[in-house]
Amino acid sequence: MIIRTAAELENFVGHQRQNGKSIGFVPTMGALHAGHISLVEQSVNENDFTVVSVFVNPTQFNNPTDLATYPRDEEADIRLLAKAHADAVFLPAVEEIYPGGVEGRNRHEFQLGTAAEVMEGKFRPGHFQGVAEVVSRLFALVRPTRAYFGEKDFQQIAVIKNMVASEGIDVEIIACPIKRADDGLALSSRNALLTPEQRAVAPEIHKALADSVEYARQHSVRATHDTVVEHLDALPFLNVEYFEIVDARTLLPVEEWDESPSVVGCITVYCGNVRLIDNIRYK
Ligand code: PAF
Repeated sequence: MIIRTAAELENFVGHQRQNGKSIGFVPTMGALHAGHISLVEQSVNENDFTVVSVFVNPTQFNNPTDLATYPRDEEADIRLLAKAHADAVFLPAVEEIYPGGVEGRNRHEFQLGTAAEVMEGKFRPGHFQGVAEVVSRLFALVRPTRAYFGEKDFQQIAVIKNMVASEGIDVEIIACPIKRADDGLALSSRNALLTPEQRAVAPEIHKALADSVEYARQHSVRATHDTVVEHLDALPFLNVEYFEIVDARTLLPVEEWDESPSVVGCITVYCGNVRLIDNIRYK
């Protein structure tokens, strides 16, 4: 079922809720790939109804070119979602999400904690406020029992959990493992923007991270960081924006491996003009 207005969506989910059904929700920005579909399949398995939204949210883009070039393919998305047995696909126009338009909307400052200030927060000012804005609006419309997010956007999950806690929203946030191409590249809608030459070198990002797990057993956090950055920066097309080795719970940098029981390395690399992100668990 294709739904384009907020009123129709509220009506649809209201009906399901009244019948005591659980609702799984997968928010996306479209240009769907196997990573998204794995979230949809998990939701379909765990809930009575699954709603998927496809909306390229303008308020989370701090770079107008990035927004203008973001890949879109509505027809292909609808086909893939039908195949994955999504019950409802919400394809809103901007006015359905931001009544009065993006410029005229009521702004609310979300309390997202320090998790929103580091890494993506530093390099994409306002990005997480925009994510919180759209996700809270979608949660208000869908009123999901569970919502599904991919761990490629590791920081986004932490920020959304903080948003849900500070806004008192009753929803379970489910983090799902990264899906990768056979050569290791993390699946992302942005991969479609890579030239064949760039696509050939992009898997080096995951390879460098995976190799660094072994390296980290014998070396310091600093040396592990530097070896990844130096290796990737030396390759054609690749330019590391940041690589941070952080406590997986707080997202604050660690200086020693034994500082935290769970440590993750989060990286953002430009491959030509395409901004790719990935991460790896050290422990
Ligand atoms: O991860 C994404 O695709 C987006 O940030 C999300 C969660 C759909 C909000 O626009």
